[in-house]
Parts: sequence; structure tokens; C-alpha cells
Amino acid sequence: MIEISHCDLAYVLGASQVKVYDKFSLKVEQGESLVLIGPSGCGKSTLLYLLAGLLQPTGGEINIRGERVIGTRQKTAFILQEYGLFPWLNVEQNVSLGLRVRHMPKKIYQEAVSEIIHKMGLWDVLHHFPSQLSGGQRQRVALARALTLNPDLLLMDEPLSALDALTRERLQKLLLEIWQDQKLTTVLVTHSIEEAVFLGSRILVLADGRPTHVMGDILNPLVGQSSYRRTPEFFQKTSYVRSLLEGGKVG
Ligand SMILES: Nc1ncnc2c1ncn2[C@@H]1O[C@H](COP(=O)(O)OP(=O)(O)OP(=O)(O)O)[C@@H](O)[C@H]1O
Ligand SMILES: [Mg+2]
Repeated sequence: MIEISHCDLAYVLGASQVKVYDKFSLKVEQGESLVLIGPSGCGKSTLLYLLAGLLQPTGGEINIRGERVIGTRQKTAFILQEYGLFPWLNVEQNVSLGLRVRHMPKKIYQEAVSEIIHKMGLWDVLHHFPSQLSGGQRQRVALARALTLNPDLLLMDEPLSALDALTRERLQKLLLEIWQDQKLTTVLVTHSIEEAVFLGSRILVLADGRPTHVMGDILNPLVGQSSYRRTPEFFQKTSYVRSLLEGGKVG
């Protein structure tokens, strides 16, 4: 699904350069749910921007489904931490925005939009504006909008970090369900070790340092099993990820 080959990425800051990636390579299979975790500033968001086609690598290349990424791609959805909702549009209008800008007639999209709004539990707040929603509801609107476009790749940058613990767990379950139902390929950034092990079929631990490197590439085959969070295997995985992060510098 994703093939990153020998990518370089450096930000230019006046006369100096911050080298974030140096000959970085990574393959992600279709249907994987990859979680990126690592110290603050190591390059997680940068990697999502590269995958979304919003940043171009200075060397090497990125291919998605065999096609080189040279700009944004219709089937890639990207959810930012700040949700990216438009304050002057209500829930229904925000959710259908992606379809409307593609000039799809209302008759055609209405049914799909209603179904997603129901699934996300947003029916009661259909006509609310973002300022009238809770953080969890806003996050669900952002997710609903991304899903209306029927993506094959869903990129998420710390989507749940602003939420209280219970809402966060509820939305983690929702994300897991969406990933399992739709066989989506997802790449999610988080700072929470628990969340990484709960949501990632594979967990990539990135190191501090410019450039960064992969400290751990961990398969997590039990992801999605019921009550996984309460099993010894879950505890083992979280301990392992924590030991890798503590071996490096935790941000
Ligand atoms: N536009 C920019 N110009 C210069 N340097 C940048 C720019 N954006 C990011 N950086 C630097 O690149 C590095 C990687 O940034 P990035 O945002 O990818 O980190 P991150 O892993 O997402 O961190 P966090 O966990 O804090 O969100 C950091 O050292 C940051 O200071
Ligand atoms: Mg970031």
C-alpha cells in the first residue's frame, strides 16, 4: 500500500537545516493499522505530511498503491488534531463538505451522509455548529467527514489527545471498529503507549535525534480482540514499547 524509499526531508531554518529523515524507508501493507510513537519533535507529523503529499521529500520517493505521491491524493484522508472544522457550518454541512466541493448532487450523497452521521452518533446534533459541540463530538464530525470520501488510507495526527479518558476510550473503540469493518489502511500518531497498543496492528517507535530512526517495529497480532486491554499480552506489549521509549529520551 505504502512504500517509502530512501526518503530525505530537511527543514530549512535561515542558514541552518533540520534534518528529520535521512534515507528513511518503510513499507506498509494494505489493511495495516500503523501507529507512530516517539519523543516530541522526532518527526511523526512530518511523516504524515509526507504521506498526505503536503510536503515533498528532498530525496527518495513515496509511492501509494504503486503511484508516486507528488501532491494530495483523492483517496487519502487526513485528520488533524484541531479537527479542521469550519465554524460557520453546522454538523451536517461540515460532514458533507468534501462531497459538496466535488460537486456531487445532494440526492446522491444524502443517504451516505445520513448513514455515517448515524454511525458516529451525531444525529442529535445535526444542526449544531462546532462551537456548540464537545471535543469528542467535534472529533467524530472530523472522522465522519473523512469517511464520506471513502478513503483507502486514513492518516490521523493525535486525533484523540484532547479528550477526557472515557470519551477517548469510546472513540478508540470506534476507530477500531471502522478499521476492522472497512479494512482501511490507517496511520495514526499518538503519544499514548496504551493507545498505540490498543489501536496498532503494528507499532513503529521512532527515536529522538535529527535525523530520526526506527527504534522498534513491533507487530501486535492480538489487536482488536475483545478485552485485549485486560490481558497479560497487552501489558507485555505496553511494557516493551515503554522500555524502548525510556531507552531513548521521552518527550
Ligand atoms: N516548518 C518547520 N520549519 C523548521 N523546522 C520544523 C518545521 N516543522 C517541524 N520542524 C522540526 O522538525 C522536527 C520534527 O517535527 P514534527 O512536527 O514532525 O515532530 P513530531 O514528532 O510530530 O512532534 P510532536 O510529538 O511534538 O508533535 C522538529 O524538530 C521540529 O522542530
Ligand atoms: Mg506532531
